[in-house]
Amino acid sequence: MKLIFLGPPGAGKGTLAVRAVNVIGVPHISTGNIFRAAIAEQSELGRSVKAILDAGKLVDDETTIALVRERLARDDAQKGYILDGFPRTIPQAEALAGFSAVDKVINFDLSDTLVLERLGGRRTCRKCGANFHILFGKPKQNGICDSCGGELYIRDDDREEAIAKRLEVYREQTAPLIDYYRKKGLLVNVDAGPSPDAVLENFKTSLDIAG
Ligand code: AP5
Repeated sequence: MKLIFLGPPGAGKGTLAVRAVNVIGVPHISTGNIFRAAIAEQSELGRSVKAILDAGKLVDDETTIALVRERLARDDAQKGYILDGFPRTIPQAEALAGFSAVDKVINFDLSDTLVLERLGGRRTCRKCGANFHILFGKPKQNGICDSCGGELYIRDDDREEAIAKRLEVYREQTAPLIDYYRKKGLLVNVDAGPSPDAVLENFKTSLDIAG
């Protein structure tokens, strides 16, 4: 199954993707995670995108499309994938259509109030990228990742000014994709407001997935 996860920043796309890969057995491909890993490695890509991510702006289409095209060409993505955070612009969606045909686009609906609550309390593992929340998904040990023991930190783009910029960019450049995919008959809406377990159930029901 080839899926796109669409939705505002902090809607829970990454959180659901980690759970959904266990259900549908395809890789989770997050452009945000790829950029953050490049920044941590201080690679050429990482150095060129760090300021853009920190400010809550978008990396240019050409760089992002080339990166996803290369990733989707790998063996593990041939049977399917969850694309989390890509496409984010109409040109990215048009480019994707040229090299892969998606089955469904899951649109995660969440109010701005809940977006702010989720991003404001998010804690991310520096080592493996796992997400926690100070209220809704606490780690067993304060400041330590349950999965790998890495240090939890506050993402630079989870500061107030960067969140405001990300929401603005989402409305201007990414939200038009909702209509774009609706017109193609690919859009499935999922209410992202309930708990992660309930969102997973909504997701499975929407796609008619058993188990
Ligand atoms: P990216 O990492 O994709 O950021 P995003 O889309 O803003 O998404 P987030 O990771 O912030 O949120 P999420 O929806 O995954 O929520 P999460 O599960 O963490 O991109 C970062 C940057 O990279 C971009 O700003 C841009 O610069 C660049 N970039 C990436 N892709 C690009 C592209 N295609 N083109 C150009 N540039 C690109 O959940 C959030 C919090 O809520 C967590 O704390 C979690 O524990 C909690 N939570 C989740 N679900 C629930 C729930 N159901 N109930 C309660 N709490 C919940």
